[in-house]
Amino acid sequence: MGAIVEFEHVTFRYPEESRDILCDICLSIEKGSFTAVLGHNGSGKSTLAKHMNGILLPTQGKVFVAGLCTADEDRILEIRHTVGMVFQNPDNQIVANVVEEDVAFAPENLGVPSEEIRQRVDDALRLVDMYEYRRHAPHLLSGGQKQRVAIAGVLAMQPELIVLDEPTAMLDPKGRAEVISTVQRLCRENGMTVVLITHHMDECIDADRLIVMSNGRIAADGSPAEVFSHVKEMEDEGLDVPETVRIVRDLNDCGFVLPTDLLHTEECADAIAAAVLQRRAAWQS
Ligand SMILES: Nc1ncnc2c1ncn2[C@@H]1O[C@H](COP(=O)(O)OP(=O)(O)OP(=O)(O)O)[C@@H](O)[C@H]1O
Ligand SMILES: [Mg+2]
Repeated sequence: MGAIVEFEHVTFRYPEESRDILCDICLSIEKGSFTAVLGHNGSGKSTLAKHMNGILLPTQGKVFVAGLCTADEDRILEIRHTVGMVFQNPDNQIVANVVEEDVAFAPENLGVPSEEIRQRVDDALRLVDMYEYRRHAPHLLSGGQKQRVAIAGVLAMQPELIVLDEPTAMLDPKGRAEVISTVQRLCRENGMTVVLITHHMDECIDADRLIVMSNGRIAADGSPAEVFSHVKEMEDEGLDVPETVRIVRDLNDCGFVLPTDLLHTEECADAIAAAVLQRRAAWQS
């Protein structure tokens, strides 16, 4: 499908700081893919995200968005329209007193004709399953609903890539589930390219690709099953692995031979049940 974002040997240092926050990052994000980014606090995840639409520019190296260099000032608006960003706190991202006005805000500022705005707003609200709330006051919505309105506001810009920087960090479990299933649907059913930065392992397991950041470098990059199968390396990074991976590791340490790429609870439970039955049959024979 081709790349939507490319990092070429990107190093970044905040002005007046003495250390590099991103160190020689080479990275390419495929169109239509779902990439999750994990990493401990301060590992550079948000700094990486802010390079994806030119909020930050590399100290060394280059970032290209849809083939445009983010350092090219003449193309920065195009770049910002191509990559939409969603942040942690929905309250900081909502600007209007009515849901549909909030979603219309960015396209209005872009000078999109009003009939098209109406269509974009309705489409975006339907995509995040908030259409029936279009006349509601955002501040009365739940955290998960507010964050979905914030996502609709980004979708109304019709970006090619949506980067979400810990969008569920301030939400309760119900809100988290709503936001993650919305984001997954946008990618799987609507072809949106997604980069999801998160602290929650369970939000990564259905991604196409999982990148682990550590001290400004990419410490691991592969499918979630591949990355999580390196339990020890993940723990050395101070990161947890999904509970299923830990259970399989502990059972395998006790002599079971279970596959190490089981991430979903049900497939893990099925594999353990089959292994236990097999052992019992072996003892009985
Ligand atoms: N504006 C800034 N000026 C100077 N240093 C900064 C600035 N923003 C971030 N940093 C430093 O850069 C490092 C990486 O920060 P960044 O926000 O990218 O990490 P992160 O992985 O997103 O962390 P978290 O999980 O806490 O969100 C941290 O040490 C942070 O203190
Ligand atoms: Mg961050």
